[in-house]
Amino acid sequence: MSFYGAPSVEVKAAAAAARFRLRRRGLLSIVVAMWRTPMSTVLTKSDFGRATDQIYGLIAWISLGIFVIVVGLLIYALVRYRERRPGELPRQIRGHSLLEIGWTIAPALVLLVIAIPTIQTIFRTQPAVEPEGALEVTVRGHQWWWEFSYPALGIVTANELHLPLGRAAALLLEGPDVIHSFWVPQLGGKRDVIPGRLNRLTFTPEAPGEYLGQCAEFCGVSHANMRLRVIVDGTEAWQAWVRLQQAPPAADAAATEGAAVFAKSACVGCHTVRGVSAGVVGPDLTHFGSRRTLAAGLLPNTPANLLAWIQDPPAVKPGAKMPALGLSPAEARAVAGYLASLR
Ligand code: CUA
Repeated sequence: MSFYGAPSVEVKAAAAAARFRLRRRGLLSIVVAMWRTPMSTVLTKSDFGRATDQIYGLIAWISLGIFVIVVGLLIYALVRYRERRPGELPRQIRGHSLLEIGWTIAPALVLLVIAIPTIQTIFRTQPAVEPEGALEVTVRGHQWWWEFSYPALGIVTANELHLPLGRAAALLLEGPDVIHSFWVPQLGGKRDVIPGRLNRLTFTPEAPGEYLGQCAEFCGVSHANMRLRVIVDGTEAWQAWVRLQQAPPAADAAATEGAAVFAKSACVGCHTVRGVSAGVVGPDLTHFGSRRTLAAGLLPNTPANLLAWIQDPPAVKPGAKMPALGLSPAEARAVAGYLASLR
């Protein structure tokens, strides 16, 4: 079994990239491998991503054109005006008005050509009003995990943002502690999450799949461990997920001992399990068992990883606000069993 459990999009992409590198080592293979990473900004899967990628493409082609012209002129000048007789200088053109005006206007025109579509795209990707029928999600960046709540659906979850395919997602970004930045490269955009301010990010996912994201603003010791994933579901999978999340937490009869330990431990002070506890410091665990990962996407949600996490969170995620609670091995196992049963 791979690190991520069942092979997911990013694992397959990484494996494909590794095979490619093995076959043909060279500059081209490195460039292609960079293109094909799960956090590539040029493998766009949303309208937002496409819009910015078009600007990127335009600028890249213009830059290539300028590069060819400049290098061409340079080679021409080197050959045409090379020193033919010792000490001989070509005719000097200092203060040539036409040339001075020319190379002032030319860059200005280039900037204008880049600026017009760029400004259009800024306005297009940041609509003042939410698109019709948009799904509103409040994204809260915490040290060091992500909270996602769907006010219209009554769902609160963490680190794994499910979105329906083809429907606009209107994200409202805010946070209680320091500045974070929400960034899922393939879905486009990178938007700061600033305490005391409401930022917006709107895009429409265009392909089902699992997309990796990462906090993109240094926010403390576990900044690099503040990961997230967006799971874009087709209609049926989306509806099934919503139904599952809206249902009360599954009460597994085999996990009553763990439930009891959980209910009398410090867990309940920070975590919500709907109907059991109402903590808001840490992630909502109502349907923790349905998540693919734990600890802000650091580890696959397997029994062994969950147990290691419960026993010593800062060992997995340095600086984690959840301390080692000093549970006995039997208690930790019981709590892990209980949390895994919350599907
Ligand atoms: Cu949150 Cu970096």
